[in-house]
Amino acid sequence: MRNTTLLRSGAVAAVAALALAACGSGDGDAAGGGESKTLKLALNQTEQHPSFIALENFGKRLKESTGGRLSVQVYPNETLGAQQETLQLVSDGTVDLAIVSGTQLENLNKDFSVFNMPLAFSSVEGQMKVVNDQKAVGDLYSSLEASNKVTVVGAFTQGTRNVYSKKAPINTPADLKGQKIRVQESDLHTSMISAMGASATPMAFGEVYTALQAGVLDGAENNEVSYVTQKHFEVAKFYSRTNHLVGLDYLVVNSDLVKGFSGEDKAAFDKEWAAAWAEHTELWGKETEKAIATAEAAGAKFNDVDAAAFEAALEPLKEKFLTSDVQKKLYETAQAAG
Ligand code: GCU
Repeated sequence: MRNTTLLRSGAVAAVAALALAACGSGDGDAAGGGESKTLKLALNQTEQHPSFIALENFGKRLKESTGGRLSVQVYPNETLGAQQETLQLVSDGTVDLAIVSGTQLENLNKDFSVFNMPLAFSSVEGQMKVVNDQKAVGDLYSSLEASNKVTVVGAFTQGTRNVYSKKAPINTPADLKGQKIRVQESDLHTSMISAMGASATPMAFGEVYTALQAGVLDGAENNEVSYVTQKHFEVAKFYSRTNHLVGLDYLVVNSDLVKGFSGEDKAAFDKEWAAAWAEHTELWGKETEKAIATAEAAGAKFNDVDAAAFEAALEPLKEKFLTSDVQKKLYETAQAAG
């Protein structure tokens, strides 16, 4: 379900924000001579989220490493639009960089759905080993360059995603029967939540709180950090550890822009990105613990589920969504990473 009014007002806000950025970016000459450029980066998370913190630091380090030639302005809170829009803005070159969920890329190339599969990865550490290793991902990250002018730089973890509900703790797929659970805009995740027993409702991230509050949704699925930074725990207090997925967020960049970087600037960009995802991974564990404490203190209830029952319910998705040799090979790589 997409709210077109919100979409339109999101786009208007995006244009206004970009116009302001153009006036105030201060782009001009860098320290050692040459052009300086402030890269606009779109994010749908709050300033408290580990992704915002790691990206701000990425920008600072990049500025230092390039003698001021490249810096980054992060626009949090969907200021430049929801992820579907910001992916399009990166493709157009209106926005330079964005963090988008793997589900958004799956809509452009089905091979991305492999890493969005439930139970593909079983740990954040294993996942990070694979998704920031060029050899392991093969041609996947350059696969959107010719069609969309979008290059994938690498990925941050979204941590483990679990289901939460307004109604009661979930223990088995039967407990989700009849519940409207929000999913990201993805065929795979719609099938995933249906297989888990619920009625799947695709929706953009920023609309979920109000929909939960209004009772349009009975629940959603996400990691503990987003459960807290988006304040969903205020309106859906039963968080059940279905552990169905370790999610992924990709950093995407406009392909023409990144291909125009000098060799030196590209090397600095890659080096600082490696530092950014390492910092993000470290922050992730700490922020997850803090989020659980915050939610529990506010009355949220966490429970374990019948894991075997959910695994059995999800098993048939493999046959439906892993169809080509490329997809099967990527899936094996993910499974082998643990
Ligand atoms: C996580 C993820 C976001 C994504 C969101 C969602 O917060 O980091 O990129 O948009 O989940 O469920 O939509």
